[in-house]
Amino acid sequence: MSWTPGASLASPLAAPTPSGWVDAAVAGWREILVDHAHCEKKAASSALALIFAYPEDEAGALVLSRLAREELRHFEQVTRLMRRLHIRHERRQPSRYATGLRSAVARAEPDRRLDLLLTGALIEARSCERFALLAPRLAAPMGEFYAGLQAAEARHFEVYVQLARSTCQPDAPDRWRERLAALAAVEADLITATDPQLRFHSGPPA
Ligand SMILES: [Fe+2]
Ligand SMILES: [Fe+2]
Repeated sequence: MSWTPGASLASPLAAPTPSGWVDAAVAGWREILVDHAHCEKKAASSALALIFAYPEDEAGALVLSRLAREELRHFEQVTRLMRRLHIRHERRQPSRYATGLRSAVARAEPDRRLDLLLTGALIEARSCERFALLAPRLAAPMGEFYAGLQAAEARHFEVYVQLARSTCQPDAPDRWRERLAALAAVEADLITATDPQLRFHSGPPA
């Protein structure tokens, strides 16, 4: 697997976050923080799941292992912030966003692996966009923390896109672009449709 660190890629997001979500997230920042802790754990666990699913790709496993460790560090940082703000962790059911993206992933290889990597890329890109939107609207320490997380999520987006590109078959080197566009359309629908729940990756409230 070839890997080009630091390659700059354009954002793949097919729609911007609606302002209604930003307003709801600023008002419901405690709820967002609890869900954010859940997302960091899930990000680490999704990277680990890819290592288990494709063990023959040693180079890819090492890249994902580093990413998983970074997500767990984020989880530890969120937990410290929550403790400081007297907010407790809570069990979460899978969100509409996660379920919707998962249902768009191809069941058969080689597209399945590509889709799993590209949904990872889209989630990271959306997280990056939302940290950037929330950071200036939230008081310290949460605003400062979110400003600091943007760069990591942008980097994770690039990691996933590079991994997806490198898994494309020689006879279809641009397959990742087609799948990224298709998955980005699904992702955009999920974050623009109204949502009964406020989550880090939810749509705007009704
Ligand atoms: Fe993270
Ligand atoms: Fe991330």
